[in-house]
Amino acid sequence: MRILAIETSCDETAVAVVEDGRRIRANVIATQLAHQATGGIIPEVAAREHLRSIDPITDKALRDAGVELKAVDAVAATVGPGLVGCLLVGANYGRGLALAAGLPFIGVNHLEGHVYANWLYDTEDVPPEPELPAVVLVVSGAHSDLVLMEAHRRFRLLGRTIDDAAGEAFDKVARLLGLGFPGGPEIERAAKDGNPSAYPLPKAWLADRYDFSFSGLKTATLRLVRSLEEKGPVPVGDVAASFQKAVVDALAEKTARAVAEHGVRSVMLGGGVAANTALRAEIQRRVAVPLRVPPLRLCTDNGAMVGAAAFYSLRHRGPEMPAGVRSNLPLA
Ligand code: KG4
Ligand code: ZN
Repeated sequence: MRILAIETSCDETAVAVVEDGRRIRANVIATQLAHQATGGIIPEVAAREHLRSIDPITDKALRDAGVELKAVDAVAATVGPGLVGCLLVGANYGRGLALAAGLPFIGVNHLEGHVYANWLYDTEDVPPEPELPAVVLVVSGAHSDLVLMEAHRRFRLLGRTIDDAAGEAFDKVARLLGLGFPGGPEIERAAKDGNPSAYPLPKAWLADRYDFSFSGLKTATLRLVRSLEEKGPVPVGDVAASFQKAVVDALAEKTARAVAEHGVRSVMLGGGVAANTALRAEIQRRVAVPLRVPPLRLCTDNGAMVGAAAFYSLRHRGPEMPAGVRSNLPLA
């Protein structure tokens, strides 16, 4: 089954063609550059950019896959969570295409997409599927969810952030340090030359639960930077490394605890922050079960992950997707 899949929930206009939920035939991703000047995403600007590029990007995805729309079996698009104006562009465009071509339309949960990125491949040999049950950590610019995936499309929320998302904390601290947007990769780069033990930053452990909190850490980093500024040039690498270590420790510790408690067969990561190599290494170090992480370019938002989630959504039909879009659609 061949699915044309659309992702426009935030600042990537992305369209992919995916076969049987796993094999990527095309995966076109246009990251909007308009937001670099503002250092953050203005929803109206993002929606307008999606509107401008969705049609040519869909054409390119079909061309890359070497298929015409009539050779596609279904159209899918992210219907939430995300920015409403942005979701509407992709979901309405997808629905329109499906209607015009007489194809089924599948509304996809963006967070399920991040999970199902672990099923994708574009190589000649077929990698094995991740083993279930699994603990999944979905960490992005807007979410930090620790979930138990009991079976296909059966998710149980173990914990989530009670304030900022992990990626959001990376973005805010990067801005504070005068680094670019998005902040995650910039912090990771700066941290490579820094000492992670230079500054002990507070971790909000929220003992006895799986929830996270990053806003206290963000404020403590702000205070640290202000006090360092008074003394001279800020040692950006040391601050970046210390901050990154605090985030990674909190995420890795709770993920490892969930793996041990639930006796799962694998652990998976998803979402933009899963691209962080320190996070991957620390989780790998702490768990005994296999760790699955999508390749870097499939961690951040893309259409292929929507195509994968759409396929498993058809196959293991869970609760029906809402007819419209929903900015706060939960994973579990
Ligand atoms: O999943 P994603 O592309 O979009 C959302 O659904 O939010 O995640 C984007 C987030 C941004 O906050 C970005 O700073 C973060 O992922 N990110 C990273 C890295 N690459 C992207 N955070 C830490 N380390 C990275 N290497
Ligand atoms: Zn995302």
